[in-house]
Amino acid sequence: MPHGLVGVIAIFLGFWGLFMNWWAFTEILLGLVPLILILSGTVAIIAGVKLVREGKSEGKKEGKKAKKAEDSLPQFSNMAVAKSTPGSIVGYRNFKIITKTKETHNVSSFYLQPEDGEALTPFLPGQYLTFQLNVPDQDKPVVRCYSLSSGSTNLDSYRVTIKRQEAPHDLGDVPPGKGSNFFHDHLNEGDVVTAKPPKGNFYLDMEATTPIVLIAGGVGMTPMLSMLESVIAEKQEREIWFLMGVRNKKEYIMREELEALASQNKNVHLKVFFSKPGIEDFKDKDYDFSERISVKRLKKLLPSNNFDYYICAPSSMIDEIRKDLEKWEVPKNQIHYESFGQATIKKAVQPKPVPEEKSVQINFSKSSKTIAWKDSYDSLLDLAEDNGIEIESGCRTGSCGSCEVACTSGSVIYLDEPDYEPEKGNCLACVSIPKGNISLDA
Ligand code: FES
Repeated sequence: MPHGLVGVIAIFLGFWGLFMNWWAFTEILLGLVPLILILSGTVAIIAGVKLVREGKSEGKKEGKKAKKAEDSLPQFSNMAVAKSTPGSIVGYRNFKIITKTKETHNVSSFYLQPEDGEALTPFLPGQYLTFQLNVPDQDKPVVRCYSLSSGSTNLDSYRVTIKRQEAPHDLGDVPPGKGSNFFHDHLNEGDVVTAKPPKGNFYLDMEATTPIVLIAGGVGMTPMLSMLESVIAEKQEREIWFLMGVRNKKEYIMREELEALASQNKNVHLKVFFSKPGIEDFKDKDYDFSERISVKRLKKLLPSNNFDYYICAPSSMIDEIRKDLEKWEVPKNQIHYESFGQATIKKAVQPKPVPEEKSVQINFSKSSKTIAWKDSYDSLLDLAEDNGIEIESGCRTGSCGSCEVACTSGSVIYLDEPDYEPEKGNCLACVSIPKGNISLDA
């Protein structure tokens, strides 16, 4: 209570003092105004300078980030870069078949343009497209990869060149290739297909200037042709040896295109190998050597072993050439390869293994799902897809590395020795099954 009384008296005295000295009070206030203005102005200037500095440094950071992103793209002079909309770059995209060309009785090329009219995603020569195909009578879409056969500087359209995979005569009930037969029998000009943007670890380093040897076995020439066209389009002077291996003239696809590129460019040396020439095939006109491509022949053709070697062929041919190149002391990092073959054939060649333990559980940590293994699944990828768990995929034969996933506990059994070597602690889901309980980072 005494506090309240003191307060009231103080307020009363304050107002009385103000009233009695009003003129002196207003003069003091007027004197303070310029001082306040000077102080506020100084504070504003300091704050402004700070903001400008911060803005500049952020700008620099963004600039660096943008430059880094730009640097990670393939650098080609004629390249059009697609807009980075999620649908166009990351996921599946619709492409219209603008041209279908028959190359031989069982090989056709398909030229594709985006249905949305936007730019194509750039690619590196050697990479492939992953298609999702609605093949009749299949309960889920068939996923297949086909190498781009066009040069990477031509971004008007993509071209894939596909060989029809017949059912193999010597492998019992292995069916014909679903994807390739669908392309040949059901897809025509004007039709729309769905594909993911180009990818793949097997590609030509366009920044390098080292001489190269491109070794193609049969339809394995498609990524090689893309590499050759890209080097020529970029007017690179690097020496190129293109070794084309087929059985005979009937299987020699895209011959005119290849021979024209070789005859018009002094740095390109084309050598054609027929392993079984027909009676209408003539040496020095249709082919150079009546034999398979071998390192023994390479030693006679090349001035030295100092080349970068790119091989796309069936696995058996790659294995042989790789081994012999290594014996010839070609460093491993100069040998690049990708095999091809029908996924079902690769799986059918060996009896299907089963997990070593009973009642195996697969834990997918990212998806928070645990699923019991069934022997009806072909692979971990098969199980994942069947249960709505997303794992990237490409070749589905252990060659491209797209399905590489971290295996955080447990281990896998490979159905077939993969061509692609995953990092330690990872596995390739497309060609493996679980050994026992396992946890995958998917
Ligand atoms: S999808 Fe290519 S290695 Fe598995």
